[in-house]
Amino acid sequence: MLRNKRILLIIGGGIAAYKCLELVRRLKERGASVRAILTPAAQQFVTPLTVGALTGERVFTDLFDLTAEHDIGHIRLSREADLVVVAPATADLMARMAHGIADDLASTALIATDKPVLIAPAMNPRMWAHPATRRNLAILEADGITRIGPNAGAMAERDEFGEGRMAEPMEILAAIEGHFTHVGSATLTGRRILVTSGPTHEPIDPVRYIANRSSGKQGHAIAAAAAAAGAQVVLVSGPVDLPDPPNVHTIHVESAREMLAAVEGNLPVDVAIFTAAVADWRVADAADQKIKKGPQGTPALHLVENPDILATISRHPTLRPHLVIGFAAETEKVVEHARAKLARKGCDLIVANDVSPAHGVMGGDTNTVHLVSPAQVEDWPTASKAEVARRLAARIATLLEGQA
Ligand code: C5P
Repeated sequence: MLRNKRILLIIGGGIAAYKCLELVRRLKERGASVRAILTPAAQQFVTPLTVGALTGERVFTDLFDLTAEHDIGHIRLSREADLVVVAPATADLMARMAHGIADDLASTALIATDKPVLIAPAMNPRMWAHPATRRNLAILEADGITRIGPNAGAMAERDEFGEGRMAEPMEILAAIEGHFTHVGSATLTGRRILVTSGPTHEPIDPVRYIANRSSGKQGHAIAAAAAAAGAQVVLVSGPVDLPDPPNVHTIHVESAREMLAAVEGNLPVDVAIFTAAVADWRVADAADQKIKKGPQGTPALHLVENPDILATISRHPTLRPHLVIGFAAETEKVVEHARAKLARKGCDLIVANDVSPAHGVMGGDTNTVHLVSPAQVEDWPTASKAEVARRLAARIATLLEGQA
């Protein structure tokens, strides 16, 4: 599986750097080629000589070495790989990645690359638990980076235990192989895919609205994963606090009716994925002016039903996509309700997730989903929203191949 795969291994400055030597050997054994970049701090733990002896290639350490005409250049170095692996991903390296800082060869290659990135974090448990690291991790996961570890256990520092040990070389190897399994089937080149994401805002008056707690993280991750797999992606997004995903044409809307119009305006597509948490109701007559408090008492909101975008597109008389996928956010009887929804909405597949507050899915970074089709239910393991998105992209590629 790894034969002829090109891995760019970025070694950060942590004690776990020594485990990368083993990782390089296992990768080489399986036929992969490995180029390594060492940060200045990494060179305090392992030497370029050792790493170079194991990779059988020149080791890269200095950004300015690579600016010479005759040299490979950091852009080429970052792109002549099938996968970039950062191990150990230290707190510092994660912070620089999350914020796009490019002040040495490793961080510059990470911002210059157009390839998927897998990180193996390693740091002291307090650093791992620090709110700054949590924030940086959330940014990296929203950017579509995959992660392996860290594990819990003893630290190099005496009497320190907790979560922060770098994953073992064989675990990192398994994650790399897992990556190529998904990617192998996830070719969406030439496919047009439309994704809806986020909540909708339904106006009450010019300053007030009805909304819900959807963050848009899952929908945005799906749009990013589909684009990364080669699809031409249109994302119709309700109001969210997320950047537009890279290489995706993003259209911003507020209300359900605007979302439907944007979706209809972007047909035909091969696949439509309705991840948005569309408001079921809107206020019948939203006021033109701000409603004032006064002697007339508390206003009553008269609600009317919004169009069901998923059902409308699933039953479109002429432009129904080949594959229509809905989401079901449920707080109880998740699979049972998803099955009913599949029939009611006329779509091909429902991705059902449990959004009861105890699971922290709404706004959180992980998801536990069940893939419900008329024939079967598949329970997927809990994974980051980026990982769920990648798996879904791979599944869509397989389903489209089956339809061809
Ligand atoms: O009916 P319910 O909201 O549970 O269905 C969820 C699925 O239907 C999601 O895929 C959501 O994007 C879609 N939906 C829609 N338009 C609506 C309501 C839900 O597209 N008005």
